[in-house]
Amino acid sequence: MNIKMSRISAILEQSSFTHPDLKQLLQCDGDERHLLFKKSGEVKDLYVGNKVYFRGLIEFSNVCDKNCYYCGIRRSNLSVRRYNLTDSEILDAARFADENKFGSVVLQSGENSSIAFADRITNLVRQIKQLSNGKLGITLSVGEQSESVYRRWFEAGAHRYLLRIETANQSLYQKIHPNDSLHDFHHRLDCLHSLKYLGYQTGTGVMIGLPFQTTGDLANDLLFFLHFGIDMVGMGPYIEHSQTPLYAFRNELLPIQERFDLSLKMIAVLRILMKDINIAAATALQAIDPLGREKGVKVGANIIMPNITPGLYRNDYSLYENKPCIDEEPAQCKGCLDARIALADGEIGYGEWGDSIYFIKKKDKEG
Ligand code: 5AD
Ligand code: SF4
Ligand code: FES
Repeated sequence: MNIKMSRISAILEQSSFTHPDLKQLLQCDGDERHLLFKKSGEVKDLYVGNKVYFRGLIEFSNVCDKNCYYCGIRRSNLSVRRYNLTDSEILDAARFADENKFGSVVLQSGENSSIAFADRITNLVRQIKQLSNGKLGITLSVGEQSESVYRRWFEAGAHRYLLRIETANQSLYQKIHPNDSLHDFHHRLDCLHSLKYLGYQTGTGVMIGLPFQTTGDLANDLLFFLHFGIDMVGMGPYIEHSQTPLYAFRNELLPIQERFDLSLKMIAVLRILMKDINIAAATALQAIDPLGREKGVKVGANIIMPNITPGLYRNDYSLYENKPCIDEEPAQCKGCLDARIALADGEIGYGEWGDSIYFIKKKDKEG
């Protein structure tokens, strides 16, 4: 073993990690990278096992009040065909998830902070609980809201919430968002704290390979997840979209394959750092590599979010270009994923919520 490799294997044996340790792990390549992935695979097997849980993703509306500089469905992109599924389309998708034993669904949309929107979500959560006899778990991913709205949704039956911090570096956050009260880093953090306080299983995540982002930033993102005590993480490569302001910086990005590779390393290092949390293999991985999500599962992820939005609308929820599965119907994706997960040596946790073990242990300690 050469010096570099033995340094990496020494770090991998540690039980805690400094910022420089994490940076070194994120920078490793060749044989060292192989060591990292071997270790993260072992940690995953030991702490969360080889089960992969499905979250049926319903992208129910691409209408968004915000204007994030990286996102294809930002408010100012006038070439997007906006849609909003009807309640009965959403409930049909939830029924599909229930009948196919997905265990849980994620309701995702652009951001909207109106009272009508809050009421609508409350009703949908109640109805999904009802139609599945309480069997379907419900995750919400509908952005920043007031604590009282988050509370209402929790009381209606939602028990997990996803709100990506996008980057834990405030000055980078400000570079990739407009600087106004609608895009305030501290407000986003406050929302994450409210969600945790209210008792949601709380998920966050970042984009990997953003313009101006350094490996040091990514190491800090990992430490942010650790110190916050996050229950779930979904993170994936940044993919430039031609109808967004950040596209102007496309020549400063890492090559797309390197962004993909760095995303796999982020998943692997996070699995070693936070051994029993839930980690999603982001769909953006598959926009780059046809086997992207399976590779994510191999190195540490244990959650996949199959898109169960009715086929008609899938093309219009384009946060980034090259989104996979836009021509498939939910049933086709399910068949496809069954085969894919088997190939990645995984087993699908059908009919299970697949809660974060980290979250369950934390509750047990408190209770
Ligand atoms: N590339 C990759 N991910 C993106 N997201 C938005 N735009 C992009 C992009 N261009 C991610 C953000 C957001 C999530 C719903 O999608 O992290 O939180
Ligand atoms: Fe809206 Fe989310 Fe896109 Fe930002 S990333 S513009 S909040 S959909
Ligand atoms: Fe959608 Fe394979 S997962 S077609």
